[in-house]
Amino acid sequence: MSTAPRFAATYPRLSTDGRKTVDPEGIPQCTLEVLASGFHKEAAAYGFRLQDYLRFVNVLLERAMDGEGAPAPAPASRVHEPRPLRAEMPLDAARVRIRAPRRDEDAPRLERWLGDRAGRHFLVSPATARALDSRALVADPRHILGVITTPEDRPLGLTAFLDYDPRQRKAELRKLIGEPDMRGRGFGREATALWIAYGIGTLGLRKIVVNTLENNIRNVQINEQLGFKVEGVLRNEVFFDGQYHDVLRMGLWVE
Ligand SMILES: CC(C)(COP(=O)(O)OP(=O)(O)OC[C@H]1O[C@@H](n2cnc3c(N)ncnc32)[C@H](O)[C@@H]1OP(=O)(O)O)[C@@H](O)C(=O)NCCC(=O)NCCS
Repeated sequence: MSTAPRFAATYPRLSTDGRKTVDPEGIPQCTLEVLASGFHKEAAAYGFRLQDYLRFVNVLLERAMDGEGAPAPAPASRVHEPRPLRAEMPLDAARVRIRAPRRDEDAPRLERWLGDRAGRHFLVSPATARALDSRALVADPRHILGVITTPEDRPLGLTAFLDYDPRQRKAELRKLIGEPDMRGRGFGREATALWIAYGIGTLGLRKIVVNTLENNIRNVQINEQLGFKVEGVLRNEVFFDGQYHDVLRMGLWVE
């Protein structure tokens, strides 16, 4: 079931001026974390999956927006600057964790993941016609990276927001399950949903785009399941594996 369209339809009502990052006013972060931790335990007992958390948040927001004790949106002059970007990592979902890259420890792993065919899908850059390499990816501060692991810290892959633009509040999402035997087991979708929630909730993104080869069925399906819509087809845009491919440009936005 796709949860993101409702997410996209309700979440943005928190934002009033379209430019500033929304930050919870008043309630200290540690209090929110304690409340969330209590709810998380109960939700786990109910068997919540990631999409259930997103649906739950939507219900909660709808009630809050209906005036049941919700604080008014902060006036522009009182809106806080974004907190440090990685303050929220590690991010946790039921079966995956996303943590900040560890430069030395992860470097050889990233080389390996990005060196095979799946890695080239991650690196192919139809929007900018620019060949990314793994070093540039890690070194460039405009790119926000997360390493996907199991909850026990076994590394599985990589998520990224490329060209994060805090003024436009826009970035390009990429994802890779680097360990071949871990693909097709639901980790990619769960990690992507978590990364989108982080992008919107923590980084303040309003528009997330994906560029994907038209034959990357698994990727297209995940994107659609998470609420991305096709915005355009770029014909014969990329030469990959010996032939030209159409590229689907997909987008998810916060209205
Ligand atoms: C794209 C990618 C991240 C997906 O992660 P994954 O863990 O393999 O995917 P999931 O197991 O979460 O599958 C999600 C959906 O893909 C589809 N899918 C999974 N396996 C599939 C297969 N073998 N064939 C076709 N569709 C498949 C299903 O619709 C599945 O949803 P479902 O479980 O409801 O049926 C991963 O395959 C990958 O790393 N690919 C290479 C890099 C890449 O292409 N990145 C995208 C460009 S940025």
